[in-house]
Formats: sequence, structure tokens, C-alpha cells
Amino acid sequence: MAEMDRRDFVKALVVGGAMLGTVQAAGSVLAQEQQQPKTAKDPNNMTPLEAHHVPKIEPAAESLKAGEELYVMITIDHPVLPEHHIVQIEVFMDDKKIGTYTLTPEVMRAALTVVLTPKKSFELVVRDLCNIHGLWENRMKIEVA
Ligand SMILES: [Fe+2]
Repeated sequence: MAEMDRRDFVKALVVGGAMLGTVQAAGSVLAQEQQQPKTAKDPNNMTPLEAHHVPKIEPAAESLKAGEELYVMITIDHPVLPEHHIVQIEVFMDDKKIGTYTLTPEVMRAALTVVLTPKKSFELVVRDLCNIHGLWENRMKIEVA
């Protein structure tokens, strides 16, 4: 009888361990999905959710000479409420993050201007994080001669 109990106990441990592994794997996938930024499926015909989350990128120019300053206005047309707001904006040149901006919703709209001095052509990537709707992204190629 004691042997049966021990076998059942070991079996329960194995099953429990396998279930824990499944839960951890599911959690890992979920975390990756949460970090995968959403984009506009059709930038010319955005859904209301996309229109309120995809960052708008407005460079002063789409082509410039190396070393020239490029002013880029970034705006997100999103509600500014204590319970629902944009938490953070990140700016990348290609894959390199060049800025992280944390917002205080009561006093700060989701808008900022960055000034870049690129030496070569690059893709400007902007991501924003909504506290309810997650991570969003927009991209724009900038030509540098
Ligand atoms: Fe939102």
C-alpha cells in the first residue's frame, strides 16, 4: 500500500511538473505576443483603434544631406485619462533605440519632437505603449545623401 502511495506521489509530481512547464510556455508566448507591436493593417484606412494608437510620424523632410538636422514630430491621437493613456514612446533608427520617453498622463499629451542628425539613410521606427491596448508601431524611411 505504501508503495502504491509513493508511485501515485511520483506520478503526481511528473504530471504536475509537465503542467507547470505548459503554463510557463504559455506565459512566455503571451509575453512575446504582448511585446510584438501592432501596426495599421491598411495605413490609408485605419480602424478607430489603429487611428488612436499608431504613432503619426511627421519629419520636416523625407530626404536630407548627411549631418543636417532633421526635426521629427511624433503624435499619438489618444485619450489622456488617468485610467487610459500612453505610457511610453520609444524612437529607433533602424534597430538601434535612440530615445525612450515616459509620459505623465495628467500633464502630458502623447506628442514630442525629436531632432536627429543622421549620417546615412535609415528607417525611423516609433513605438508607443498604451496601458490598455499594448504596444503599437509605425515606420518611415528617411533618405540621407
Ligand atoms: Fe489605448
